[in-house]
Amino acid sequence: MAAAAFRLFVLLAMWSVCVGKETGSLFSIRCQPAVGVVGEVTDISCSIQSNTPDTISIYLIVLTRVGEKEALFTFDPYEKRMSGEPRFQVTDKTSFQLSNTRLSDEGEYKYHIRTNQGGKETKFTISVTAKYREPVISSKQEKIENDGAADLLCQVSGGYPAGNIHWFDQSNTNWTNSATLQKTQGDDGLYNLSSTLSYRRFDTSWAPFKCVVLNSKYEEEGRSTSNLKISGSVNTQEGANNSVVKNSVAAVVVIGSLIVGLLIVILFKRKHVRRSIPREGLKPEEENALNDAVYRNSSDQDITV
Ligand SMILES: *[C@@H]1O[C@H](CO)[C@@H](O)[C@H](O)[C@H]1NC(C)=O
Repeated sequence: MAAAAFRLFVLLAMWSVCVGKETGSLFSIRCQPAVGVVGEVTDISCSIQSNTPDTISIYLIVLTRVGEKEALFTFDPYEKRMSGEPRFQVTDKTSFQLSNTRLSDEGEYKYHIRTNQGGKETKFTISVTAKYREPVISSKQEKIENDGAADLLCQVSGGYPAGNIHWFDQSNTNWTNSATLQKTQGDDGLYNLSSTLSYRRFDTSWAPFKCVVLNSKYEEEGRSTSNLKISGSVNTQEGANNSVVKNSVAAVVVIGSLIVGLLIVILFKRKHVRRSIPREGLKPEEENALNDAVYRNSSDQDITV
């Protein structure tokens, strides 16, 4: 038993040595899958793992799209010469940057390297995403009435890959299952999402609604709150009345304090006027007239107030 196991072990060891020799790798290369955002710089990180103390000199690096024959980009480190797609830049010996990333850059690539220790090839992918813009909520009806029909629409554009729209009302009830989502792709490849939430009998107390945009990984990318025109009927009136009451209370407070301020100013002025009127040298009837005038003036103002 033990002997058999030992023989198997020896065989395995020999086999792995042979395989190792066969592939004969003094070095290997690896590229991480690259993830880019439309319009931004995408890092393509590739590295050499060396099993030899000898230095590996790179003669040439060639990037090719899988399925295409012609090289997309080449780099000769000795001559420091790059050719092909000008959006590629070499960042260190073996890694790249792709600037102004496009949706069309998405795909599989071959990375070929030629060195003093031989050539190697590996593959990597570039995937591209685009962030959705701010969603906009609108309604088919110009004004929404309580118990009336309501069709709410949430639209968002400019995202990639296709995402989702979820709906919540004022109390955070999830209405997503009642909505229909349309995904359309523009000429630029970016997605427009449009979600419709239709009610035959709308309860205006549900408003405002929230529309939440999720990207393809179900991460929230934006949200918007409805600002619907709701016309007066039972439920809304309550809300409207409330705000009217609140507004009038606020107005009364503001106007009241203005009046009090005005009164203080008037009183102060009156005293000031009285004090500043030179009374010496006035005849008694002149003084009376003056006092009358001051009194009349102030009483006039009192009446206005
Ligand atoms: C809302 O409903 C949708 C559809 O059923 C679901 O995918 C989503 O997870 C729900 N969201 C929350 C926050 O419950």
